[in-house]
Amino acid sequence: MGVFSGVPASIMGTGMYVPKKVITNEDISKMVDTSDEWIRERTGILRRHLAEKGELTSDVAEKAAREALEDAGVTPEDLDMVIVATNSPDTIFPGVAPKVQGMLGANRAGAFDVQSGCTGGVYAMAMAASGIASGIWKKVLVIGAEVLSPLVDWTDRNTCILFGDGAGAMVLGAAEEGGGRFISTELRSDGEKHDQITFRGGLVENPASQETVEKGLHYVEMKGNEVFRFVNRIIPPFLRQFCLNSGIEPEAIEWWFFHQANQRIIERAAERLGIQPEKVIINIDEYGNTSAASVFIALYEFLREDRVKKGDRLLFTAFGAGMTYGGIIYEA
Ligand code: COA
Repeated sequence: MGVFSGVPASIMGTGMYVPKKVITNEDISKMVDTSDEWIRERTGILRRHLAEKGELTSDVAEKAAREALEDAGVTPEDLDMVIVATNSPDTIFPGVAPKVQGMLGANRAGAFDVQSGCTGGVYAMAMAASGIASGIWKKVLVIGAEVLSPLVDWTDRNTCILFGDGAGAMVLGAAEEGGGRFISTELRSDGEKHDQITFRGGLVENPASQETVEKGLHYVEMKGNEVFRFVNRIIPPFLRQFCLNSGIEPEAIEWWFFHQANQRIIERAAERLGIQPEKVIINIDEYGNTSAASVFIALYEFLREDRVKKGDRLLFTAFGAGMTYGGIIYEA
């Protein structure tokens, strides 16, 4: 893993979509034994957007994708590849990406899903940038999309307070003269901790049965406290070393896009890295943890605020089920 060489890959356009329905902490406190104050203080989340019944991951992905294509001035026929990072695919197969490719009529494109916990979005960006760098793809649509709400146990206060639904997308293409470019990436995994965030039911290990339903195996399970400690321990030194391996001091990163899992995790990591709070993008208050979509949604909103300047460095980082983690640096 390291510094990109070959054709520089640039972000040409971005899009996002979140469902209209909003669930506040107050709403959740009527469902489980919790409170607005507890959720706010422990996570930074105030509300989250949830899909309507029947609104699928491919639907939210398509909406974000269409906006990204329009923003980029790219037609579906121009695309060489569609990559969807998701942990909540409509079905285990087909993947979401082929469905979206079909919905868009991206007739020349291949399509595949990346399923790597909440880090999937960063993995997918790295795949897309690598494909462009190598010359095999010219234009790639990368989407992070989740409809996690049907996979969440709304009687489990450890998990149901955290997650939200939504999608973000970006179109990547070969950089034009003076355009931005991806600089470097580092993708990691610690599979010995594969039991920390799981969805166990309905597949090979636990084929669907009356028993799997009764045991609640068709829901997200999480050892929240262990995840919290893992991330606090691993992420700050990983990010420092990643920056240095990329030839960049952490102080020289203008904007930090952490996976929006928990505001306390983000703030603690930023503090340990000596990052000024104003350089850290936070929107968990509005969306909760949208898993593989979170860094895309954060970037989308940030770009519309017109704060980014030519040459600014943006670092995207995420962690999640696996336990996977990683980072990718972009120069605007
Ligand atoms: N409302 C009220 N009380 C709650 C609660 C809730 N929703 N969830 C847990 N509690 C209680 C616990 O039962 C515990 O009570 P006790 O001390 O009487 O036993 C107390 O609050 C503290 O629980 P703890 O699990 O230590 O809380 P925490 O500060 O670690 O916060 C998380 C819990 C889940 C918010 C936090 O661990 C977290 O965000 N972890 C990371 C999760 C994550 O990022 N997952 C996705 C990765 S992609």
